[in-house]
Amino acid sequence: MGDLDGKVAIVTGGARGLGRVEALELARQGARVVVNDLGVTGDGSGRDESAANAVVDEIRAFGGEAVAHFGDVADWNDAQALIRAAIDGFGDLHVLVNNAGFLRDAVLFNMTERDFDDVIRVHLKGHFCTMRFATAYWREAAKKSGGSVYGRLISTSSESALFCPPGQPNYSAAKAGIVSLTMGAAQLMQKYGVTANVIMPRARTRMNDSGPLAAMFKKPEDGFDTFAPENVAPLVGYLASPAAKQISGQVFVVWARQVKLVSQLSTGKTFDSDARWTFDSLKAQLGPHFEKLQPVTDGYTMPPG
Ligand SMILES: NC(=O)c1ccc[n+]([C@@H]2O[C@H](COP(=O)([O-])OP(=O)(O)OC[C@H]3O[C@@H](n4cnc5c(N)ncnc54)[C@H](O)[C@@H]3O)[C@@H](O)[C@H]2O)c1
Repeated sequence: MGDLDGKVAIVTGGARGLGRVEALELARQGARVVVNDLGVTGDGSGRDESAANAVVDEIRAFGGEAVAHFGDVADWNDAQALIRAAIDGFGDLHVLVNNAGFLRDAVLFNMTERDFDDVIRVHLKGHFCTMRFATAYWREAAKKSGGSVYGRLISTSSESALFCPPGQPNYSAAKAGIVSLTMGAAQLMQKYGVTANVIMPRARTRMNDSGPLAAMFKKPEDGFDTFAPENVAPLVGYLASPAAKQISGQVFVVWARQVKLVSQLSTGKTFDSDARWTFDSLKAQLGPHFEKLQPVTDGYTMPPG
């Protein structure tokens, strides 16, 4: 008996990297899994159905149940068809793991309109489209049953949303948007019995197997493999399970042997004025505060680490 026996799960971008091990984890826990993947290259170009089919074969090889779906998560009709594939194929939907995405890095002043739009689209709109149809399905099901349903939304953000690396303005903005989108869904769906949480993983995948981070992510000769995707997948399995029913509206950094909660964005020091602010009153109050601080270093972003 697995913790997800009888449950139906979708993993988007489930053919490679993190999505693949998350799909395997959910299937090992007993879920029937729809492995969605468009089969694109690392920069989002091309299409290939073989990778999603290979993960379905892996799941079936250990006695699990899975089907492949080759739609684009950021396409309205494909996303609707993906949710329907779970309901029509396996009779229901309980878990939606949004994971699909790709990178097109460049600093702000070099970024093309296309690279900005495509990365925002696949990550942020990709989460929106699938969550839109999954939540509509759960709301209808809850209304029909007169009670609540079993629903788990697991979104994939990134520590880029916290560190805001200058070389990823499209990606970090999309990943920050995913946090807000999911936190809103957590509030909206609570009364229907649906939880919504976000992971910020770190793992060795093709996203970092070349370029400046490749050396850090390299598999060690021996000892613990800090950046194995398998370090991330158990948290997804746990959040998907009945055991995590009390967990919603949370953001988790997960890699190596650590799970770290991310604090909610919050306001800090407050400045008040007796009357409407003027240039001079702002200068008088904000000036002394900021002259003790270093620009950027003492700013909004967190240092990586
Ligand atoms: N690898 C890391 O360290 C890391 C860190 C933070 C966040 N993430 C996030 O984790 C997720 C998985 O990334 P990964 O590192 O496993 O990369 P990956 O390239 O190995 O896997 C991403 C998968 O998404 C699929 N995909 C891309 N566009 C799609 C679309 N429109 N529709 C359906 N499928 C699509 C790709 O074909 C690919 O199989 C991404 O959202 C990524 O931003 C990864």
